[in-house]
Amino acid sequence: MYNDNPTLEGLNKRIDEEKQGEVFFKESAAEGEKFFYIESYGCQMNFSDSEIVASILAEAGFQATRNMEIADLILINTCSIREKAEETVRKRLRIFDKMKENRPGTLVGVLGCMAERLKTKFLDEEKLVDMVVGPDAYRDLPKLVSTAEDGDKGINVFLSREETYADIAPMRLDSNGVSAFISIMRGCDNMCSFCVVPFTRGRERSRDAFSVVAEANDLYSKGYREVTLLGQNVDSYKWENPESKEVVNFANLLEMVAKVHPDLRVRFSTSHPKDITDEVLHTMAAYENICKYIHLPVQSGNSRVLDLMNRTYDREWYTERVEAIYRIIPDCAISSDIIAGFCTETEEEHQETLSMIELADYSMSYMFYYSERPGTLAARKFEDDIPLEVKKRRLQEIIRLQNQVSFRHNKRDIGKTFKVLIEGDSKRSDQDFKGRNTQNKMIVFPKKDGLKPGDYTWVKVQDATSATLMGEIVEK
Ligand code: 5AD
Ligand code: SF4
Repeated sequence: MYNDNPTLEGLNKRIDEEKQGEVFFKESAAEGEKFFYIESYGCQMNFSDSEIVASILAEAGFQATRNMEIADLILINTCSIREKAEETVRKRLRIFDKMKENRPGTLVGVLGCMAERLKTKFLDEEKLVDMVVGPDAYRDLPKLVSTAEDGDKGINVFLSREETYADIAPMRLDSNGVSAFISIMRGCDNMCSFCVVPFTRGRERSRDAFSVVAEANDLYSKGYREVTLLGQNVDSYKWENPESKEVVNFANLLEMVAKVHPDLRVRFSTSHPKDITDEVLHTMAAYENICKYIHLPVQSGNSRVLDLMNRTYDREWYTERVEAIYRIIPDCAISSDIIAGFCTETEEEHQETLSMIELADYSMSYMFYYSERPGTLAARKFEDDIPLEVKKRRLQEIIRLQNQVSFRHNKRDIGKTFKVLIEGDSKRSDQDFKGRNTQNKMIVFPKKDGLKPGDYTWVKVQDATSATLMGEIVEK
């Protein structure tokens, strides 16, 4: 989900492998044509934002290309979540700078979280870029491009309290034609002490519920069969209808999108343990097409560390929420984000994170060691005092245990039959399809004539690794 280091090769391969949604990527330019090339890093929200950027640029007369060499505009949509993500971006910028030697006049723009965090530092210190555009300023891109074309630096890092890009139809860039993201809110008001997001993405705001439903309808009519509703904290989604004054909460929105069509699967990310309500869980249970999968980041299994992290829940609260999920939706899978070695974390506290992996029975987790981010509450208040080797060792222990728990989770599925939405060919063989079950587990199985990506089929699981299920199509 978080992509600190997608190699360009990987990126291009993915684009080649997957059927393009509505975008036609051109590889060579004719006279007068203008092209943009965009790379995205970080969270799904960032990938989703790149689709908004693409749409804005298309309006302004630019076409999409995967060939950096013909691009007039090279954009990099950046992430600041960990130091490693930023290092990757710096490396890419140096490569783009080399490119410009052969094609003077090519403009390079830094978009997204790192643009917001570093603002003019990119222009002053690095001299590598022509434009710096924060996540709420994408509408301004055509103007900033003109400014940069005139030889001035184009910069807009203004954060908005209102911008949700609700009226912009995203141009599906890296799509398999089956599943798509829909951004339902922007920003974050939570102030977790380790996190840079409130500073890079600003205040939380929810998008017009009807524009979300309209986007889901449009996707369904174009053949898409799965949408993922995206927000930093979807459970605090709240939109007031300006006419009726009716308030739509996340459970209401989920239901509205689920009703678009029974064959349109609905997923969402990310849930916050302090905010996820029984109402949301009951809505999930009531609709077959709302997927039985919740990404519920715990971060730490210890209450003292959770308090330092300013997560506003403790171990007991989190445990109760996990129990509520399994009670209300018995077949639900839960996944997590975990940080190893946060400031002052002891060995005993680390053990409590390990025991939470067992207790919550996560199907998978995204696992990191703590990386201090400038400007965050933790950077200002606490010393980053856990030595790197200790952080790395604790992370290894977390990863090892999670792999075991994932493997056990997957082995329990052997012999079961699942409804699978076919996404495309498997990575290894064009004789096999890959697709997901409702619990978000990837299943690989031999193809059968007459079936294509976007179709549902029933698959009986015969084997499992810690990451994938293998099976065979069966009649249901
Ligand atoms: N260091 C390490 N991991 C972090 N995350 C967020 N900030 C940091 C940080 N400073 C992780 C959290 C979050 C995920 C998106 O990234 O686990 O849920
Ligand atoms: Fe990275 Fe967070 Fe920004 Fe997403 S919101 S791109 S994870 S810093």
